[in-house]
Amino acid sequence: MKKTLKAIATLTLSMSAGVILFSSCSSNADSPYYEYMPDMYRSPAIEPYVDYGEVRERYDENRSLTQSAMTPPVGTIPYHGTDKKHVLMMLPYHRLADQGMDMSHGHYGSELSDSLGREYELAAKDMNPVMIDADNAKEVLDKGKKLYSKFCQHCHGEKGDGKGPMVESGAYSGVPNYGTLAIADGQMFYSIYYGKGLMGAHASLLNKEEIWNVIHYIKKLQNDKYPESESVEDEGDVTEGAEGDVQDDNQMAG
Ligand code: HEC
Repeated sequence: MKKTLKAIATLTLSMSAGVILFSSCSSNADSPYYEYMPDMYRSPAIEPYVDYGEVRERYDENRSLTQSAMTPPVGTIPYHGTDKKHVLMMLPYHRLADQGMDMSHGHYGSELSDSLGREYELAAKDMNPVMIDADNAKEVLDKGKKLYSKFCQHCHGEKGDGKGPMVESGAYSGVPNYGTLAIADGQMFYSIYYGKGLMGAHASLLNKEEIWNVIHYIKKLQNDKYPESESVEDEGDVTEGAEGDVQDDNQMAG
């Protein structure tokens, strides 16, 4: 008899414990219900991506839905090692986005050029700092190709003819054929970096070295013999009487 009573008592106790335990579950799938250990959910240490508008039922409207991670100061440069040439290449781009680009290409809050098109014109002078020659051509072009196939090909096409799947599907248009695109490397950089027309800015997707790398690959698409031979139609006025052999003019010089 005593044993049965004890068993009933144990059963009742464990059942009520179960009721208390399981009452923490709610039928509303979105409700966290009771937080037995709030520290597990909201660390008292400040974390970058947590909403501190409510911590343990203390509300602070000023912090609600605000970013707790600090934005680095303007002009902050990530660490790029100690190789001077590389560091120089990775310094912030020295050309400003065109006036109006804050509206069209989302360069909100950036310092903008006070003219239209001037910076793009000047960009024609910027040389590709990623050197390419017979020795490293394969490595540079392979890198460029990899980036191109991830970031550009769907619009520009595998061969650079402007007929990527996005265009072929009819979803997109206005993509140029590299074969007839006679602009300087620096201008390619400018347009890729800041965007142009229907092409968005790629500054947040590729770093400067990667963009210059892709530009080498575009030149390869334009001319299969690149980098041994450069197409020189857009080199402009060669004033000295170099009549015949313009073809082997190699601006990469070493
Ligand atoms: C969403 C489609 C799209 C993607 C992705 C895209 N482009 Fe473009 N690109 C365009 C269009 C459209 C133009 C024509 C812009 C104009 O002239 O109005 C263009 C133009 C260009 C030009 C010529 C710029 C000039 O100054 O005339 C270059 C160079 C270029 N793209 C390179 C790239 C590279 C490199 C990538 C990848 C990193 C890329 N594009 C990704 C659509 C795209």
